[in-house]
Amino acid sequence: MADTNPSPHVVVVSSPGMGHVTPVAGLAKLLVLRHHFTATLVTFSDLRCSLPSSISTIQLPTPLLEDLPSNTHFVTRICLTIAHSVSPLREILISLRRTTRIAAVIFDLFGSDFLSMVKEFGIPSYLFITSNYFFLSFMLHLPTLEETTTGEFRDLSEPLRLPGCVPLKGEDFLEPMQERESAVCAWVVHISRSYDLFDGTLVNSFEAIEADAAKFYKKRGDGKPHVWPIGPLTWSGSDMGTEESWHQCIEWLNQQPSESVVFICFGSGGTLSLEQTQELALGLEMSGQRFIWVVRVPNDTDLSSSSYFNPKQNSEDCFGFLPEGFVERTKERGMMVNSWGPQREVLSHHATAGFVSHCGWNSTLESLMNGVPMIAWPLYAEQRMNAVLLVEGVKVALKAKVGVNGVVRREEVAKVVKELMEGEEGKVVRRRMQEMKGEAARAVGKDGSSYKAIEDMVSLLEDSAVA
Ligand SMILES: *[C@@H]1O[C@H](CO)[C@@H](O)[C@H](O)[C@H]1NC(C)=O
Ligand SMILES: *[C@@H]1O[C@H](CO)[C@@H](O)[C@H](O)[C@H]1NC(C)=O
Repeated sequence: MADTNPSPHVVVVSSPGMGHVTPVAGLAKLLVLRHHFTATLVTFSDLRCSLPSSISTIQLPTPLLEDLPSNTHFVTRICLTIAHSVSPLREILISLRRTTRIAAVIFDLFGSDFLSMVKEFGIPSYLFITSNYFFLSFMLHLPTLEETTTGEFRDLSEPLRLPGCVPLKGEDFLEPMQERESAVCAWVVHISRSYDLFDGTLVNSFEAIEADAAKFYKKRGDGKPHVWPIGPLTWSGSDMGTEESWHQCIEWLNQQPSESVVFICFGSGGTLSLEQTQELALGLEMSGQRFIWVVRVPNDTDLSSSSYFNPKQNSEDCFGFLPEGFVERTKERGMMVNSWGPQREVLSHHATAGFVSHCGWNSTLESLMNGVPMIAWPLYAEQRMNAVLLVEGVKVALKAKVGVNGVVRREEVAKVVKELMEGEEGKVVRRRMQEMKGEAARAVGKDGSSYKAIEDMVSLLEDSAVA
């Protein structure tokens, strides 16, 4: 007999910021397209991406946080926004319950303050960590760490040993934890306290890449929420790949020999100082390698009044802050782009053989899926942790060593880039990266570990869909 019940419904809630909407929307799409759920996507922003018709969207009002000092950390802003949005979300759930069978509400990493409200409804709530097991483990341990230690974490005498994870030095903790007295640190500790109270957790990782951690969470009983590794899931943006400079970039790549180009990109949010930008440029030049570099305006350069700006140097007028003559000297083997673009196309190109990356998890997964070994150059958020995981745990990346004043010097840039492209260590990480590429494809392929984890979670959701 046909089931007359309507499809189970999931409510997915994204925290503020486009970077957070994309993965959450991706998860909703997966549940709707592959598993016949219907979904409501709740966000704080206007959506620009197109969604299947069985996903409706609701925009929460952004609370006015006018009294905040202008230098308030963006994580603090997000947490405050969420804390002020509990009532509006409650109203949404009340109204959705009249028309749908809600199976679960799924939150991203900032969703903690919604949790007790959702529990009042008796609706299961899930935590979607768009990062890895390492990050989840860190967050789960944070309340204990907070209670049992004093002083700055970077002064801890021993590295933190989380079950199944590589040892982590205090200086490599999440960037907001680096000032223990700060408001942002308190907020991160606050949200971490709820992480084990959700009914289940999804991580955008896969068993093969964090095997020991995956094992640990599989066995972890005690009524602790189940953790499903569902990755690698990546999401392509909507408005990218249209720019002229990027077409030029791909055309240029088409002209290069196979596996000869190193790609340098620090993500959508990463910027470097002027000094660092110049050292990187000179290092790339010294390395003698071919490169594509997504160059951002240095974060300490005031373009409007800049004396670094030398329009004569470059016809496009946009790389004047680079060292004198650099553009000219490297024009035969270097390509520069001044906006973030379709990095997936670059990473999947046969000419690309290395990736200098900030180690954002998103970029990391794209590199893994394409088998491109990396040079870890973390900048903020949890990127240092990812770098430790990639360099010391998975061994698919070399590390760019930071020199005096926190700057990676040109000699180091040249050395590590050459090593990755031509050296013995480079060969080792390249081979390992190839293995991981295969593992990643297997994990998400039919009957792979991540594929099965999603099915497993889905059947639980279907069972819990209340009428
Ligand atoms: C991940 O990358 C894609 C495109 O490569 C982008 O659309 C998306 O916003 C990124 N997600 C995050 C969380 O940065
Ligand atoms: C600029 O970039 C450097 C990395 O080169 C970073 O250490 C610094 O904090 C950044 N400054 C700002 C104001 O974002």
